[in-house]
Amino acid sequence: MQLEKIYIITGASRGLGRGLVDVLRQRSNTTVIAGVRDLESASSKELDLLSTASGSKVITVAIDSTVAASAQPNQPTKLFRANTA
Ligand SMILES: NC(=O)c1ccc[n+]([C@@H]2O[C@H](COP(=O)([O-])OP(=O)(O)OC[C@H]3O[C@@H](n4cnc5c(N)ncnc54)[C@H](OP(=O)(O)O)[C@@H]3O)[C@@H](O)[C@H]2O)c1
Repeated sequence: MQLEKIYIITGASRGLGRGLVDVLRQRSNTTVIAGVRDLESASSKELDLLSTASGSKVITVAIDSTVAASAQPNQPTKLFRANTA
């Protein structure tokens, strides 16, 4: 069995970040942590609906690189959500 790989992508709502999410989510046994600034934006919610390869998932998390708290561990659960194949 292929080992799970985990990627974290900031700026996942659009542009290069979104493109990377789209490539990586099609790989099996892959977890993509997709950082967005606004979990409630339409582009962020779209990430929840994306299909993924077998054993893979996209976890959407709130990350703003200008906000120090974004880098803290143990964020409240309301700051992330996941979809799973
Ligand atoms: N496109 C190119 O050809 C190219 C070439 C070389 C370098 N780059 C660099 O690569 C980066 C991405 O380019 P892009 O074309 O994909 O840009 P883009 O389409 O404008 O997307 C920028 C992304 O960064 C997010 N973002 C902005 N400020 C942020 C912050 N403070 N914390 C976390 N996320 C933040 C945006 O989120 P929101 O949706 O919340 O705004 C968006 O998802 C840029 O730094 C750009 O200068 C791009």
